[in-house]
Amino acid sequence: MKKQVLVTGGTGYIGSHTVVELQAVGYDVVIVDNLSNSQLDVLDRIEQISGIRPAFEQFDLVDQEKTEAFFQKYPNLNAIIHFAAFKAVGQSVDKPLMYYRNNLVTLMNLLECMTIFNVPNLVFSSSCTVYGQPEKLPVTEDAPVQKATSPYGNTKQISEEILQDTIFANPELKTIALRYFNPIGAHPSALIGELPLGVPNNLVPFITQTAIGLRQQLSVFGDDYNTPDGSAVRDYINVVDLAKAHVIAIARLMENKNKKNFEYFNLGTGRGASVFEVIESFERSTGQKLNYKVVGRRAGDVEQVYADTRFANEELGWKAEKTLDETLVSAWTWEKNLRK
Ligand code: UFG
Repeated sequence: MKKQVLVTGGTGYIGSHTVVELQAVGYDVVIVDNLSNSQLDVLDRIEQISGIRPAFEQFDLVDQEKTEAFFQKYPNLNAIIHFAAFKAVGQSVDKPLMYYRNNLVTLMNLLECMTIFNVPNLVFSSSCTVYGQPEKLPVTEDAPVQKATSPYGNTKQISEEILQDTIFANPELKTIALRYFNPIGAHPSALIGELPLGVPNNLVPFITQTAIGLRQQLSVFGDDYNTPDGSAVRDYINVVDLAKAHVIAIARLMENKNKKNFEYFNLGTGRGASVFEVIESFERSTGQKLNYKVVGRRAGDVEQVYADTRFANEELGWKAEKTLDETLVSAWTWEKNLRK
């Protein structure tokens, strides 16, 4: 029998790419999503890519009764990948309680159901935001967690603590937290990708929307950082590469290959790219000229962060494969397809 995996937030950006990769290797996928930041036609698109339509349940995992009813309806789940969360840093500053309630209550409801219904395996979406501005770069998993600069970042830190404490109290539970660096790009089919609501906060959607004419000008937030060209440095990771890491993590748990009951890994490329380098790579690889100007720094931004990926490479046997150029081309193809 196929192993069954619950993917929360499975119609969202990283979730949908992961569903495709899970189905490609034979998992039976059930998606739970409240469609707060995604659309139902993502299911059609997943089906177009995979030839398989995943099961889908629309409800809010904040609702404990509905969450329990879901676990009753699907008694054969083997594992869970929990993507469902709010993720806009700026919005979290304005609406902290909305973020704490959504991101923490959903996790706690899931953990409770995992113990009640004996589903032992969880992969959790964490973030490099837990490191703040690390003292040493590239940043390794044993770098200290620093005080979060936003309620969003804090929900990821608190979530990791909730996981550790819950696993300590319930040794039958196992979790891998994946600390994403900056996920970008889209599926090569251009059928799924990132769908930001309103004006994008993140660099790459802002770039593609500027190139297509939806935005007049890209603002480069700061050119006076202590970096080679003065702009801030991040580790941009292709979303399909990222999705594949989840498939490996879920198999590691199900096959009991994990070395601890709570493990965490950096998912990045290991290479830092500055904002100017991203712009240059986009212009070169797509042939599009970008209208941009340098403005002041954005509040809350760190100067530079990129991953030491050795632990993920060695333990998971996973490595990011796609280049920045090809990933930016995939983001551009997706943007063009959206606006056709
Ligand atoms: N940037 C610009 N102009 C823009 C948007 C972004 O210059 O219009 C710059 C930012 O200042 C930053 C870089 O591009 O230097 C990347 O910014 P993003 O907003 O794309 O990504 P962040 O690194 O700020 O945020 C990401 C995730 C968050 C996570 C954070 C942790 O989106 O979920 O990393 O560091 F919390």
